[in-house]
Amino acid sequence: MEKYLLRFVPTMKCNFNCDYCFLGKSVDRAAETMFDHHSVNEWIEAMKLYSDKEIEIYMWGGEPFLLDDTYTLLKAWLAMDHITEGCRIDTNVYFADKIAERCPSNKLKLNCSYHMQHHTLEDEFKKVKKLKKLDMVGMVNFVASESNLRQLREEYHMSIHDLIDKFAEIGVFMNVAGDFALANNEKYERRDEYMDFILQFISPREWELLRGKSKKCKCDAGKHFFTVNNDGRLTSCIDDAVYGDFFKGEITPAKRVKKCKKGCQSLISYPWRQDNECNPWNSLLEYVKRNEEYRKNVQTKIDFIFD
Ligand SMILES: C[S@@+](CC[C@H](N)C(=O)[O-])C[C@H]1O[C@@H](n2cnc3c(N)ncnc32)[C@H](O)[C@@H]1O
Repeated sequence: MEKYLLRFVPTMKCNFNCDYCFLGKSVDRAAETMFDHHSVNEWIEAMKLYSDKEIEIYMWGGEPFLLDDTYTLLKAWLAMDHITEGCRIDTNVYFADKIAERCPSNKLKLNCSYHMQHHTLEDEFKKVKKLKKLDMVGMVNFVASESNLRQLREEYHMSIHDLIDKFAEIGVFMNVAGDFALANNEKYERRDEYMDFILQFISPREWELLRGKSKKCKCDAGKHFFTVNNDGRLTSCIDDAVYGDFFKGEITPAKRVKKCKKGCQSLISYPWRQDNECNPWNSLLEYVKRNEEYRKNVQTKIDFIFD
């Protein structure tokens, strides 16, 4: 059966305003939502047109759970047989109770960001634990930004290793993401030291795939991975072509695998490239598996302290 990963963006707005967010301030972002062009019922009905295919869902933003319609949509979509396990949503977990109540499903593996400026450790832990009981947690994502690391040390007197251990107690993998502003900035004077710090948590291969010099290589993105725009057009990061119309149940993947030389900005993109062996399906749990394995052989325990 044909299988596709479809990416949706309910809203670019967010209820949090993290000082390190690479998207900038929420107020400055587009106000358009996924439900402005088509109602939630139209989105639900359209997904039924793909019932002869397997569909994995990915949502990000903004905060997808900011919108009431997101819960209605997910409840309906996740109940459909052709929606696969391993659907991923990036969320700040502020709305954990509402998620648990309105769209509980273990087909969903949430990428639960821990933004310390907005959640106490107790709050975050409680929310993640609740979702974990429903088998809905892919991982906790902690950005190693200056403010997060400072707050962890000064307010909680904890190292990042302590934080990882705390979530491990409930069987949750905590990812330590290099802050793009530091890790991707070749002019950052402490970049090598910062990289060594991050490489305790993710493998050098993942670091390279995410931010290494991009080389032209074949990529399956235009064959299996598409963004569904708010008007229903299916597009791909690989080129500017339109690959179908969601509301007509159309999907016309590229006939041949294409080559791409753009760098990949996210964990969800690079497994589609043919220069690596990462499994692109259920990619969040696959990422966790790879890096859990990697961490078993890491002996160092260094911290990174900002002056
Ligand atoms: C922009 S957020 C939006 C989704 C959702 N509201 C959330 O908080 O997860 C998407 C992902 O980017 C990560 N992120 C935000 N700023 C970052 C930065 N400066 N460096 C690395 N990752 C960052 C977040 O932790 C999250 O996993």
